Amino acid sequence: MLDLSDSNTLLAGVSMGLGYAVASDLSRKGSKVMITARNSEKLQRIASATGVKYYACDLTRESELLLDHFQREAGDLNNLVIMIGGFFHDSIQDLTALDIMVDSHVKTTLRFLEKAVKRMKDGSNVVLVSSTQTLSTTGKASLSYSISKYALNKAVEVTASHLLSQQIRVNAVAPSVMMGDFESGRDYRKLRKLGSLETPPEDVANVIAWLLSPDSEWVNGVVIPVDGGHRLK
Ligand SMILES: NC(=O)c1ccc[n+]([C@@H]2O[C@H](COP(=O)([O-])OP(=O)(O)OC[C@H]3O[C@@H](n4cnc5c(N)ncnc54)[C@H](OP(=O)(O)O)[C@@H]3O)[C@@H](O)[C@H]2O)c1
Repeated sequence: MLDLSDSNTLLAGVSMGLGYAVASDLSRKGSKVMITARNSEKLQRIASATGVKYYACDLTRESELLLDHFQREAGDLNNLVIMIGGFFHDSIQDLTALDIMVDSHVKTTLRFLEKAVKRMKDGSNVVLVSSTQTLSTTGKASLSYSISKYALNKAVEVTASHLLSQQIRVNAVAPSVMMGDFESGRDYRKLRKLGSLETPPEDVANVIAWLLSPDSEWVNGVVIPVDGGHRLK
């Protein structure tokens, strides 16, 4: 098992799906973890199940408060995972979700990253969460969601390039459709086979942990699909 015991990790945009899975996985691997999102009841449930710390806030308004709180409670920030999400289906015939998707996946994520990297030191890591909808050529993709995640893919490359001087790596994972809420202790490997549409959040959490670890220290500025090869069908 990876040993992340030298790290302080902030997970932003934590859900009962991916966020919970990552919190559980990283704390099992020894990282000191703090989780954040707006809904404090959800955070409390995850914190009591995993032993991680939590701080409820809206990242559009309270990111400096969060970073101050993290510094006081956990110390220097070395690992940052931003999973801020939300999904709406729309299309060029009915472009209802454009503002909300760009705001959430691009603006809130990058504004928060802008503030966080000012506090991160040499050797720190950032992981963002994209989607295999950026790789799909089908017309089924949501227009606003997929272009927002496409922008995030480019942001991974450009921010990784800008942060070379600070020795901070920036990477992303791109899951396919995730399998709902995380359930601690289940045998998630039995729930999928190569080519399946749905991805257990545990599989995505494993790749995120690797990207945060020294085992991946020569991987920088990339977006890794985590879909068991479903995109190849
Ligand atoms: N689910 C999938 O099938 C899938 C597939 C591919 C990629 N992804 C991506 O994977 C990531 C996680 O997805 P998910 O389905 O687990 O969760 P999600 O519900 O899409 O988003 C994660 C969390 O972000 C939080 N959030 C949104 N705006 C926020 C804000 N202003 N301040 C603080 N927190 C905010 C929400 O929690 P609060 O409401 O508590 O604030 C939400 O639960 C997302 O980036 C998503 O786009 C998901």
